[in-house]
Amino acid sequence: MTTEDLVARDLASVWHPFTQHSRWADDRPLVIDRAEGMYLIDTDGNRYLDAIASLWVNVHGHAVPEIDDAIRRQLGRLDHTTFLGLTHEPGIVLAEKLLATAPGGADRRATRVFYAGDGASAVEAAIKMAFQAKAQNGEDRPLYLHVAEGYHGDTLGAVSVGGIELFHHTYRPILLDTVMISSPGVRSPGQSAADRAIEVVAEARALMEVQGHRVCAVVVEPMVQAAGGMLTHDAEFLRGMRALADQHGAYLVADEVATGIGRTGTMWAVEHAGVVPDLITCGKGLTAGYLPLSAVLATEEIYEAFLGTSDSGRTFFHGHSYTANPLCAAAAIANLDLMADRDTVGRAARLGERIGELTAGLAAYDGVSEIRRIGTMTGIEVRSVGERTGFEICQRARDRGVLIRPLGDVVVLMPPLALGDDDLDLLVGTVETCIREVVG
Ligand SMILES: Cc1ncc(COP(=O)(O)O)c(C=O)c1O
Repeated sequence: MTTEDLVARDLASVWHPFTQHSRWADDRPLVIDRAEGMYLIDTDGNRYLDAIASLWVNVHGHAVPEIDDAIRRQLGRLDHTTFLGLTHEPGIVLAEKLLATAPGGADRRATRVFYAGDGASAVEAAIKMAFQAKAQNGEDRPLYLHVAEGYHGDTLGAVSVGGIELFHHTYRPILLDTVMISSPGVRSPGQSAADRAIEVVAEARALMEVQGHRVCAVVVEPMVQAAGGMLTHDAEFLRGMRALADQHGAYLVADEVATGIGRTGTMWAVEHAGVVPDLITCGKGLTAGYLPLSAVLATEEIYEAFLGTSDSGRTFFHGHSYTANPLCAAAAIANLDLMADRDTVGRAARLGERIGELTAGLAAYDGVSEIRRIGTMTGIEVRSVGERTGFEICQRARDRGVLIRPLGDVVVLMPPLALGDDDLDLLVGTVETCIREVVG
């Protein structure tokens, strides 16, 4: 099959996510055929550095022998069975390994893992858990407090606690009841991140004084609102939200789908603030970018709110056909083992610092308005010079063999955590050239 044939058949039958199909054909779709290490290879044999980590999921690169073998071994033993009413070794082992990494303090620590599929379905489970746990403890709390510019996925519960106008406003009439605070990552000119954190926490405090008794959960993306444009914020924001949730008897949900599993240079982003959430969601990098698997890490207090007799109605009536799929769990176990063996989190922290050093010079360009980064998660905001400035920069990078994807006019660099020095030089050099060409 030629590339032209495949593109024509795609155009005739496929509907892609987050894609404006009236532009799709003109945007010269790439047809990816295979992958090796940090590179994706198209059907014409062109190689592309996967500098967006296949949408923020890849950890060690592609075709990693240890993960390939783990999946193959699992395939030879058990492909899939339901997790409703029975269990299996990969599901158990992965839960233990995840909990061993979870942040915890003297009074709060995750002790239970609930599996889901994609990031959005983990968020969906977490916000249902928060509401139901409170209800079963006799508290009527039908509200969520969430943050403008937030993104938690595309199912309706996750959209309800989101705050990106472009993605979410259409659905407002059919969403859950929420109260939204301003983004701690959107500062006025000259305002420091610390001052902005204090300002937004004060806004949240005022809202909670009125509505706090009805809020079951405060939902945040810790340290960086990723899809909102890599909007980083001061750790004081997270500490403030933790304190407010405690004060008003609400749970704190940390959505670590993007930030978790090392992406910010710590295993969990909440570690930057020394905050322990009641519920943590993770996904994306959990299987190193191989297979869809996400999870909610919950405290014992929340878990216990669901205990009762079979007819008590206290069960968490929530699950999926493929909950805890053994192949996904095997990939995740192999990933966590590799991360421990290779100190991938430490390497990610160093990679992040190197990205910071190499991109610092870009700030001098007139066309670059701000560079934001935590760990390896980097956003380079450029001044708009047309309808799709960020996209134009990324298309040029693609023509030079580097795959990145913008968020509006923010050029995002989010490479696999194991990216080597030469590939990093290629990435930053290419991005610099393309930014210079498009915005000067
Ligand atoms: C913070 C956060 N939560 C949830 C999601 C949704 O994850 P998924 O696309 O796997 O449903 C994303 C995706 O980018 C995310 O960044």
